[in-house]
Amino acid sequence: MSVADMTTKTAAGTSLTIIPAGKKEMSHVIMLAHRIWPTAYEGILTPEQIGNMLERIYTYDNLQKETDAGHQFQVAYLGNMPVGYGSAYIDDDIIWLKKLYVDPNYQGQRIGVHLMHATVSPLLPASEIRLLANPNNIPAHRFYEHLGFTQIGTVPVKMGDWEFCDCLFSMKLTP
Ligand SMILES: CC(C)(COP(=O)(O)OP(=O)(O)OC[C@H]1O[C@@H](n2cnc3c(N)ncnc32)[C@H](O)[C@@H]1OP(=O)(O)O)[C@@H](O)C(=O)NCCC(=O)NCCS
Repeated sequence: MSVADMTTKTAAGTSLTIIPAGKKEMSHVIMLAHRIWPTAYEGILTPEQIGNMLERIYTYDNLQKETDAGHQFQVAYLGNMPVGYGSAYIDDDIIWLKKLYVDPNYQGQRIGVHLMHATVSPLLPASEIRLLANPNNIPAHRFYEHLGFTQIGTVPVKMGDWEFCDCLFSMKLTP
């Protein structure tokens, strides 16, 4: 799969374009996060936690800080409509997939898997991909396991004002 600026077809046959995020695309990331998070984390985080994290993480300033620290963002579009986003960075030969979110109305159309490839590919080569997932986000666990990730441990994390113990998933890459 090619790196950035990828056009492909979803399972429904619609054209999907994935591009690196500039300033305009970051506004789509923020808009999508507010649309996706309340559904994705319903029953996993409280509405207060979701609101607090959205407020802390999804600001232009914070996303710019993440970009300055080496996080690369990709946004997926069906036609002109933003439908998902991903971000990742590389540290010491390990790619850390930090964000992967698809609009609930468009999940199950292989957008997530395309977005993951487009997010990770620009950072290759690497020996391994790692990510953290909330222990109660079982659909995400199943998705990552389906793609070949395995859980290798748990890690304490701080998000917004809360501390959690997230599941650490890993997939070794063959050279
Ligand atoms: C997790 C997420 C990114 C997956 O994206 P998606 O577009 O719905 O998934 P895809 O359609 O690309 O699925 C790719 C493959 O994984 C499988 N899969 C997806 N979700 C699955 C699940 N819950 N259980 C089992 N298999 C699953 C699909 O069947 C598909 O299989 P195939 O390769 O045989 O066709 C998306 O559902 C999402 O944004 N969820 C909410 C946010 C979230 O939890 N993000 C992860 C934070 S760590």
